[in-house]
Amino acid sequence: MKKFRACVIGVGFIGAAHIEALRRLGNVEVVAVSGTSNTQAKANAHFVPKGYDDYKAMLDTEKPDVVHICTPNASHFDMAMYAMERGISVVCEKPLTKTLDEAKKLAAYAKKHNIVTGVNFNCRWYPQIMQVKAMIQSGEVGAIHTIHGGYLQDWLFFDTDYSWRLEPELSGNSRAFADIGSHWIDMVESATGLRVVELLADFETFHKIRRKPLKPIETFSGMALRPEDYEEKPIHTEDYCTVVFRFNNGAHGTCTISQVFAGRKNQILLSISGSKCSLHWDSEDSNELWIGRRETYNQKIAKDPSILSPLARASTSYPGGHVEGFPDTFKQNFKAIYAAIEAGDTSRRDFANFEDGLREMELCEAVVRSAKKDRWVKVGE
Ligand SMILES: NC(=O)c1ccc[n+]([C@@H]2O[C@H](COP(=O)([O-])OP(=O)(O)OC[C@H]3O[C@@H](n4cnc5c(N)ncnc54)[C@H](O)[C@@H]3O)[C@@H](O)[C@H]2O)c1
Repeated sequence: MKKFRACVIGVGFIGAAHIEALRRLGNVEVVAVSGTSNTQAKANAHFVPKGYDDYKAMLDTEKPDVVHICTPNASHFDMAMYAMERGISVVCEKPLTKTLDEAKKLAAYAKKHNIVTGVNFNCRWYPQIMQVKAMIQSGEVGAIHTIHGGYLQDWLFFDTDYSWRLEPELSGNSRAFADIGSHWIDMVESATGLRVVELLADFETFHKIRRKPLKPIETFSGMALRPEDYEEKPIHTEDYCTVVFRFNNGAHGTCTISQVFAGRKNQILLSISGSKCSLHWDSEDSNELWIGRRETYNQKIAKDPSILSPLARASTSYPGGHVEGFPDTFKQNFKAIYAAIEAGDTSRRDFANFEDGLREMELCEAVVRSAKKDRWVKVGE
């Protein structure tokens, strides 16, 4: 098995999760990280040998096999292109880019130069979502009629909650949908094999003005500030959206996405009704999958590799009763991506690559277009 040298750009909330997951693979050494300033201290804190304040210097000096991009969305395009131009495989955080045009360019470049790429749509990798996929593929669920659910958080509930995600220049012109709705719809399309063909989106920004801290803070760091530490900022992206979908098999769906739903820290819900049974999954109880039936009793499947489908078993590391969750999905995603890099296999589609990143950007663009026009739109119109 090849030993990989990896670099990570951006060591905030998710960069740290990448470093941890890569170490769990066993065949990847994180040789360096880059940030904006004083990065050697961050490198030391994560037991990484070298820290660079400039990602280009890091890539040119370290020449890693793979780079992980874990910075605000607006920087993904330049970083991914710089790495690919040097033949470095890229694992990029979602959303792939700030704009649809950038995503098209990255996907086209990766395809033309046969570069294995990954996007960290990690939700596909929950064992019970793999079980949903396997049950749909085997015909156990029957024809899919409806899909509904959503993604709820409360970390932007107060008008003093602030992050770079609220600034379209850094984040893009969709917030709730691009940030977390993109996870939900990637999970749905990947598990069901269906494609959204048209949609209707309804947006709301409840905090039209927020009070931005005058000192920089990192996501979820929970620093306490005083009133004089804030400035007022108008907000132009959605706190909330509901989207109605029509899928390519005739199925219908809805999702409700909110970053201001008090008490829900990070809840992903997925309900699928088929012609034979229904399925329901809740990320806050992620090791269970509910099966609903009309003619007999309902069931709950535990995350136990001895009873799961081979597909779900392959993305499970521990026996039944041993909870697996968010960090484990990173490990499973990276395991698949690094296996594809080792094999030079650009055809593998169980993990999200830049094509899938582009697909989510197309969906985001359609969601924004529909909300603005207040009508149904076709995806990719
Ligand atoms: N897959 C997931 O579940 C998940 C979860 C959270 C965030 N994300 C994505 O990860 C990315 C980062 O989000 P986060 O929550 O970690 O943000 P964060 O604010 O916690 O961290 C971002 C880090 O990037 C650094 N940075 C900014 N510009 C840089 C540059 N030019 N070079 C090097 N470092 C730079 C910042 O200093 C900071 O340390 C976003 O694209 C976000 O959508 C994905």
